[in-house]
Amino acid sequence: MGVEGLLLLLWLLTCGSLPHSTHPDPDDEACLTHLSSSIQDPNNNLQNWTRTTFQNPCSGFTSYLQGATCNNGRIYKLSLTNLSLRGSLSPFLSNCTNLQALDLSSNSLTGPIPSDLQYLVNLAVLNLSSNRLSGSIPPQLAFCAYLNVIDLHDNLLSGQIPQQLGLLVRLSAFDVSNNRLSGPIPASLGNRSGNLPRFNATSYEGNKDLYGYPLPPLKNKGLSVMAIVGIGLGSGFLSLVLSFTAVCIWLRVAEEKMAAEEGKITQLMPEY
Ligand SMILES: *[C@@H]1O[C@H](CO)[C@@H](O)[C@H](O)[C@H]1NC(C)=O
Ligand SMILES: *[C@@H]1O[C@H](CO)[C@@H](O)[C@H](O)[C@H]1NC(C)=O
Ligand SMILES: *[C@@H]1O[C@H](CO)[C@@H](O)[C@H](O)[C@H]1NC(C)=O
Ligand SMILES: *[C@@H]1O[C@H](CO)[C@@H](O)[C@H](O)[C@H]1NC(C)=O
Ligand SMILES: *[C@@H]1O[C@H](CO)[C@@H](O)[C@H](O)[C@H]1NC(C)=O
Ligand SMILES: *[C@@H]1O[C@H](CO)[C@@H](O)[C@H](O)[C@H]1NC(C)=O
Repeated sequence: MGVEGLLLLLWLLTCGSLPHSTHPDPDDEACLTHLSSSIQDPNNNLQNWTRTTFQNPCSGFTSYLQGATCNNGRIYKLSLTNLSLRGSLSPFLSNCTNLQALDLSSNSLTGPIPSDLQYLVNLAVLNLSSNRLSGSIPPQLAFCAYLNVIDLHDNLLSGQIPQQLGLLVRLSAFDVSNNRLSGPIPASLGNRSGNLPRFNATSYEGNKDLYGYPLPPLKNKGLSVMAIVGIGLGSGFLSLVLSFTAVCIWLRVAEEKMAAEEGKITQLMPEY
């Protein structure tokens, strides 16, 4: 073996044996750093999330961060549920581009669902249920073509359900119950053509102004009952007023007649 051979062997032993997992991913670091600063942990339930920046969160197969799971050196699952977390969702969550599951359910998170989540093109599970998230459901979520699960129940979300979500052909669980949503349920999410699963009324109930199939048409019935009661009360009041006026007019006419009669009588009376 020559010197070149030895050098090659040395190079192979040093550089070649470096595990790929030690390459820190700047996007994941940005994602976690921003997430950590946008959420608050008043009960100190989160372990190892205290530092301000996260160097190499996926140095092994597992992350040193509670709730984070790694795959091929990238964060692929974030699950921080029932930890009394407050604060809001950072738009920089979208920097965790390998994320497949985001579960932040059962906390006290506020603010909107960032439309930047659309850049999580590998996202299959989005569970943000049982928080205090407000604003509307971003229609851009339809760009996350692999979404299997969208669970947003028990929040304060308002506005309409974006029709675009009906484009998510892999969606097998969809729950927006108990929010403040309004308007019609998109036909593509109520009924779907073909043998694909669809979502029943339990996915939509508890939204005061949401209507349409598969919700029962109770709301319209309720409205017409109210209308009938209103018409009944209104016409009752109107006829009362009318009859009162009629009686008044009749009385006045009778009075005038009587006065006229009286006048006639006094006129006819011979003067003494
Ligand atoms: C926190 O980090 C320490 C040291 O890196 C590790 O031993 C521990 O398992 C981590 N905790 C969690 C919940 O991952
Ligand atoms: C949530 O956490 C509380 C205590 O922190 C516990 O009592 C409760 O059982 C948990 N709920 C679920 C659904 O895990
Ligand atoms: C990280 O996320 C922010 C907010 O969505 C975005 O502006 C930025 O372009 C992202 N960076 C990368 C590298 O994707
Ligand atoms: C979302 O999370 C909640 C609470 O952690 C859980 O009960 C629910 O089953 C999850 N949703 C789905 C569709 O898995
Ligand atoms: C959905 O299907 C039901 C019966 O399966 C039907 O009664 C209803 O009219 C359909 N709604 C729409 C919007 O297609
Ligand atoms: C609605 O669908 C869910 C699963 O998607 C099921 O567990 C539940 O029993 C269904 N409810 C009704 C009333 O059909």
